[in-house]
Amino acid sequence: MKHVMNTYSRLPVALVRGSGCRVWDEKGGSYLDMVAGIAVCNLGHAHPRVAEALKEQADKMFHCSNLYRIPLQDDVARMISENSFESRVFFCNSGAEANEGAIKLVRRYCHEHSRKGPGIITFTGSFHGRTLATLSATGQEKVKKGFAPLPEGFKTVEFGDMDALRGAVDDSIGAIMIEPVQGEGGVRIPPKGYLKNIREFCDEHGLLLVLDEVQTGMGRTGELFGYLHEGIQPDIMTLAKGLGNGFPVGAVAARPDVAEVFGPGSHASTFGGNPLAMAAASATLTIMIEQDIPGMCRETGAYLTQGLKEMMSLHSGIREIRSRGLMIGIQCDTDISSIPRDALEKGILLNVVQGSVLRLVPPLIITRRECDEAVEKIDKLLKEKGV
Ligand SMILES: Cc1ncc(COP(=O)(O)O)c(C=O)c1O
Repeated sequence: MKHVMNTYSRLPVALVRGSGCRVWDEKGGSYLDMVAGIAVCNLGHAHPRVAEALKEQADKMFHCSNLYRIPLQDDVARMISENSFESRVFFCNSGAEANEGAIKLVRRYCHEHSRKGPGIITFTGSFHGRTLATLSATGQEKVKKGFAPLPEGFKTVEFGDMDALRGAVDDSIGAIMIEPVQGEGGVRIPPKGYLKNIREFCDEHGLLLVLDEVQTGMGRTGELFGYLHEGIQPDIMTLAKGLGNGFPVGAVAARPDVAEVFGPGSHASTFGGNPLAMAAASATLTIMIEQDIPGMCRETGAYLTQGLKEMMSLHSGIREIRSRGLMIGIQCDTDISSIPRDALEKGILLNVVQGSVLRLVPPLIITRRECDEAVEKIDKLLKEKGV
């Protein structure tokens, strides 16, 4: 990889093929995939219907520009809106780009509608992307190091602390941006009622609520979108990761009266919502809804969590297991960053965040038998590591 920039500490394996929850390397070795491309391939690898939709579209047209009407965009936007909240959707290519779009929307909305803002409150431990504005929004100092000057207009508040939030809001603030469950931050689930309190607080103070559903969206938590557990609605929601089941596509959905502050020329993306990306997203959403994949995720997530909790009694070094659907964090007392590498020898793909949290985000179609296999392998790995 001499000619590729050295921005990842890559594991010594090249994955060349996948099917469902399994992937294969170039030498034919197989692995149970508990990473799913980091919460992306929610329907499993090479899903035949998504692959077929892509092949069919590839034979017709890859790309044509947003200078022209792209009928598939309307289908995907309708599916998002009908299954979340009444919204208008902008399409882009990644999570960071979706959050950038949301940040621009907040700023434009505040300038046009409100005396407040356009500052945005985000939270300690949050992750919103690697572009300059989303980096600035991210509540983790380590990712910002060396990139000053960062765009202004963000204030970080302690995650889970309603009083801290109340104290931080002044007339410079126009919105609150939060992940329903923090993923990169270590699978941190907010205290019960927290998101509802934030929603009410936003309503009282005329603030917009932006939900970053890049990781929690598309069935991951056992609902199509993470906020659906909370009985609230966002004003703006961002999506990416699972939306194309591996094909790059992101989206910003906003309440119609918020969305209307964007007009022709306010925002754009050459590739955003191109026919190929829309074919993938349309097939993915259709399957997700038709087959109630979020329901399946709820059930399997509970089963896997149960298995892990039983295993936990054998490991004094596991402090806590946090889970919502198939977004699971095994919080250990010590650094376990070497586990993903050791896991390769056991035929399983694992991911660690924040040094001490084993994050499990497998395809949502994982079977109970595969869950048992994962628990058995994780148990062995943690034992070998003395956890
Ligand atoms: C919650 C959240 N927001 C934004 C992003 C950034 O997405 P992308 O890497 O597609 O730019 C991520 C990526 O991990 C994420 O988890």
